[in-house]
Amino acid sequence: MTVLQQLQYLRALFAFAFRNSPLLPVGLVLSVVSVFLELAAMASLMPLATIVAGGSAPREAMVVRVLRFAGIDATGDRILQFFLLLFACRILTQLISQTLTIYLSRRMLLQLTSQAFSALIFDVPVKVLEQKSIGYFIGLAGDEASRASNLIAVISQFLTTALLAALYFAAIVSYSVVIAFAVLVFLAVTFLALFESFRVSHRLGVRQVEQSHSAGSLFLDALNGLRSVRSFSAEKYVTQSYYGQMHGYVRTLATIDAVALFARLGPALILLGSVAILSAWPAARESFSLDLPFLVTMIILLMRFFPIVGQGLNLALRVVADARAGRDVTQIIGQYQATSRAGSSRSNVGAIERIEAVDVHFQHLDGKPVLQGFNARFVKGRSYALIGVSGSGKSTFLDLLLGFFSPAKGAILVNGRSSDERSQGDLRGKIILVAQDAAIFNDTMESNLCLGIEASHTEVERACGIACIHEFIQEMPDGYRTILNYRGTNLSGGQKQRIGIARAVLRHPDVLLLDESTSALDAATREQVVGNLLKEFKDRIVVFVTHDAFVMSAVDEVLDLSLIRNDSTAVVPSVA
Ligand SMILES: Nc1ncnc2c1ncn2[C@@H]1O[C@H](COP(=O)(O)OP(=O)(O)O)[C@@H](O)[C@H]1O
Ligand SMILES: [Mg+2]
Repeated sequence: MTVLQQLQYLRALFAFAFRNSPLLPVGLVLSVVSVFLELAAMASLMPLATIVAGGSAPREAMVVRVLRFAGIDATGDRILQFFLLLFACRILTQLISQTLTIYLSRRMLLQLTSQAFSALIFDVPVKVLEQKSIGYFIGLAGDEASRASNLIAVISQFLTTALLAALYFAAIVSYSVVIAFAVLVFLAVTFLALFESFRVSHRLGVRQVEQSHSAGSLFLDALNGLRSVRSFSAEKYVTQSYYGQMHGYVRTLATIDAVALFARLGPALILLGSVAILSAWPAARESFSLDLPFLVTMIILLMRFFPIVGQGLNLALRVVADARAGRDVTQIIGQYQATSRAGSSRSNVGAIERIEAVDVHFQHLDGKPVLQGFNARFVKGRSYALIGVSGSGKSTFLDLLLGFFSPAKGAILVNGRSSDERSQGDLRGKIILVAQDAAIFNDTMESNLCLGIEASHTEVERACGIACIHEFIQEMPDGYRTILNYRGTNLSGGQKQRIGIARAVLRHPDVLLLDESTSALDAATREQVVGNLLKEFKDRIVVFVTHDAFVMSAVDEVLDLSLIRNDSTAVVPSVA
């Protein structure tokens, strides 16, 4: 992909910025006003060069005319004061517009990071999420969102800088066409020399994003798996890998800065040298008829012009380096929203009475086939145990029931309707999966149980009673208001599983799927919980994925995935 194609995301980014920040145009207009004020200030300074050289202020100069219009004599002092006034206004407007831009880009950061996170949580298909590393998503909502939000400030600065440079150039043209031409040739040569730095900058920007992703993944994996890291004495492996990755990241960052620095200061340095040679070379000065006032004026103009061009270049290089970040963020925010949120609000399936898997074929991306012509039927009022050797596709099948994946062939019918006829939202809340590991948030026990739904405390206690976790919670220091640690480190595996079960009960789903979610319980507690669930869900559908003999004996039907994965039928009659 070329640099220009990469930059197309800028349109999306600016559309996003204008939609979310109505004040952005105000900031842009103010900065343009500020640019014109600077030019007016500089123009009013020019006649001073003539006065200093012993002449009198040229009558046609703008400042002289303005002062005369106001009834003021155009003396050197007055001209200086006028210049100072204009320049003060320039700085003031610049201050306001830049404050506004900073405020807007920080707000933009909030919007980009929270909308990127929302997109990940609400919209992006599980299939897509699984193709990337955790570091990718952390980087996306962190580093990349921050760089993309800076881009708004950088680009608005770039626009005003470019305008300022153009105006200065016009001023140079008005003083001397020959010098303007020379400047143009000089710039063209410099730009050709710098063109490579744009490509380098872009390549480095992409590399930086990738390095930040892998370092982020490593960081999180190592901390989450700290017990294993220490027990395997793998600390050195982990810390050295991290150092290596961060070293690369920092080196890339430094290179990007160095490229930008040379692009900014290089041309000004070369120009300064040329002017110095010219001024020390009387023959050249005479042949170009460069008198001292003219030279002073030109130097003032050029000394302002070239840093501005350099700054513009610098900003352009940053935009190019951050192109990848901006593209990733705007893509993740916009890409999936339309499909996933449309129709997710209203459900029109009604209570789930039956679910049928008809000739379901499925394989994971670049994996071998998991399900090949799988058939099963789950009806209201019955309970099921789904068994099969590890890796036979039990969890995958549950994901298909939940609509996280779609079958490659065949269909999952809910009340006789296929996934084409219902929307994602139809099943939301009606089919609930309790996984082996319950996700625990660093919040109170009660919030961890409700996860955002409104439920009375009595209901919460009842659900906890069914999951056999109520007594344990009551014994915690603050009962239901106890704050749970990050990832639930103050809970045992079995306690976390029972919190997961209580959560599901509280939501009254039509279909409850439990994926080995009683595996960490002792036999007595497991039998109690399973018994409670069968009673609670006797009019609904409950499916246990399990290897437990007790569960198999307690449910109405046992389905063995290892037996039925390659043919059609096969509901093994319950042992009970
Ligand atoms: N997200 C995934 N991407 C690729 N392959 C997967 C993924 N999840 C599971 N698999 C593969 O699919 C097969 C079935 O896995 P799974 O449904 O988890 O089995 P079970 O729950 O029966 O142990 C396994 O061979 C596993 O390696
Ligand atoms: Mg599994």
